[in-house]
Amino acid sequence: MKEKEFPRGKEYGFALGSDHAGFHLKEKIKSFLLDREKTVYDVGVYNTESINTAPIAEQVGRLVSRSICRQGILICGTGLGMSMAVNKVFGIRAALCHNQFTAALARQHNNANVLVLGSRVIAAELALECVKVWMKEKFLAGKYAERLKYLEIIEGNSCRNLASPQASGPRYLLSEE
Ligand code: RB5
Repeated sequence: MKEKEFPRGKEYGFALGSDHAGFHLKEKIKSFLLDREKTVYDVGVYNTESINTAPIAEQVGRLVSRSICRQGILICGTGLGMSMAVNKVFGIRAALCHNQFTAALARQHNNANVLVLGSRVIAAELALECVKVWMKEKFLAGKYAERLKYLEIIEGNSCRNLASPQASGPRYLLSEE
């Protein structure tokens, strides 16, 4: 993707994005957030013309990983394409959620920073309930924070393996292993 110019010096609560399949739900979620006086950076799409999900996911991921937006919400038909793509962005922990339970645990245990929803999987009302729960729940830290450290190890190992593809196996291990 061509490097996009992101605004400097301004922070947003939410980065929001969808493909064509998620467009209508994205608009509903956007209104929901704006009605609650949340700040939203909407990266698109702005209509139902068929497009690839991944560039939208990348933009939302970058906004979150660069701390321009505190959290992200992505919507496609199943949520799968958006999840796969945005989880490739360094520092992103995206969670595909199907109900209030998965949305709550995504925040409490996984400290997810991007919520992904499938507009063809769950009804708009349930999707909004997921957003509500997501906004309310907090990361429990403690043992969950310890577990999350391994995600950074995977990121580090992946970068090192890219730099020297002949190398195999993990380079960094958690201290207790
Ligand atoms: C679009 O038809 C659909 O493939 C997309 O929204 C998403 O479900 C991909 O994972």
